Amino acid sequence: MSMTSEEPSPFRPDLQSGKVALVTGGSSGIGFEIARQLGLHGAKVIISGRRQQVLDDACAALGHDGIQALGVQGDVRKPDNCQEWIKQGVAKFGRLDILVNCAAGNFLVPAEQLSPNAFKTVMEIDTQGTFNASRASFPELEKSGDAAIVNISATLQYGATWYQAHASAAKAAVDSLTRSLALEWGHFHIRVNGIAPGPISGTAGMTKLFAGGDDAMQHYMKTIPLGRLGTKWDIAMAVNYLCSSAARYVTGATLVVDGGEWMYRPPLIPREAVSQASRGLESKSRATGHAGDKRSKL
Ligand code: COA
Repeated sequence: MSMTSEEPSPFRPDLQSGKVALVTGGSSGIGFEIARQLGLHGAKVIISGRRQQVLDDACAALGHDGIQALGVQGDVRKPDNCQEWIKQGVAKFGRLDILVNCAAGNFLVPAEQLSPNAFKTVMEIDTQGTFNASRASFPELEKSGDAAIVNISATLQYGATWYQAHASAAKAAVDSLTRSLALEWGHFHIRVNGIAPGPISGTAGMTKLFAGGDDAMQHYMKTIPLGRLGTKWDIAMAVNYLCSSAARYVTGATLVVDGGEWMYRPPLIPREAVSQASRGLESKSRATGHAGDKRSKL
């Protein structure tokens, strides 16, 4: 089943009406679709990114969809930049209710070749950046009275993932931050949740992973229980849910949106053989009386 980003929304079009959202890394990729879907559901959006031209193009595209958008240039690694974005956003839109921490960096490198600076770079963008933007947003989110932070995480760190020691460590720390901030900021009516996307089509991450070609992709598809790659829309709709009143009692959770991919392991025996093998075993136990013995001991 193929799915596009232009699915009709299951939500009311005024779901986020009256709200203002900042999406870091919102000028491209998953972040852009999150900003777009929050906007299509009534929010005014502020998107941050490092490249001015990309920001300008993204704001023009959002404007084309009828969304009020402001692009703010800078780097989540710099706390001053984050503060400046909030200042500019509030000057234009008057408030801040939603923060989506989506800015991230990643590349595939075997750990023995990963430079200490490369490790540090990803930790700083993903983890420190999430804290910087959250910390800078706090005074405005506190004023909102009904605020939500969503940290875009990953499933890499559940167990371990090849060649991504840096990103796995960074996302594990992001998940920890989600829980800590949820614990401390619930008092201020700020809910803090995470989303862990699985394989999402049309992203830099998937392109890097499948530079190897179609065979690798076909093999990979078999490891996704729902049988398809995710779309940016799938992630954006999960953000819309977490930032809506439907999730008003949800905080400190990280919602996995991955088609079941992270849990995958090959079946020990083929599906067709299970029932036969299992029934065969049962009738054998009945014949020898073992099953009955077990029950009588309970
Ligand atoms: N493989 C190995 N090391 C890499 C690398 C790669 N593909 N890309 C960057 N690095 C290393 C650099 O060599 C450098 O380490 P060094 O000083 O020891 O040589 C360190 O990481 C910092 O790199 P630099 O390019 O100076 O950092 P940056 O801050 O300009 O950009 C990223 C870092 C991660 C943001 C950059 O790779 C990038 O823009 N990636 C695209 C965005 C992305 O990955 N999005 C996907 C999100 S899941």
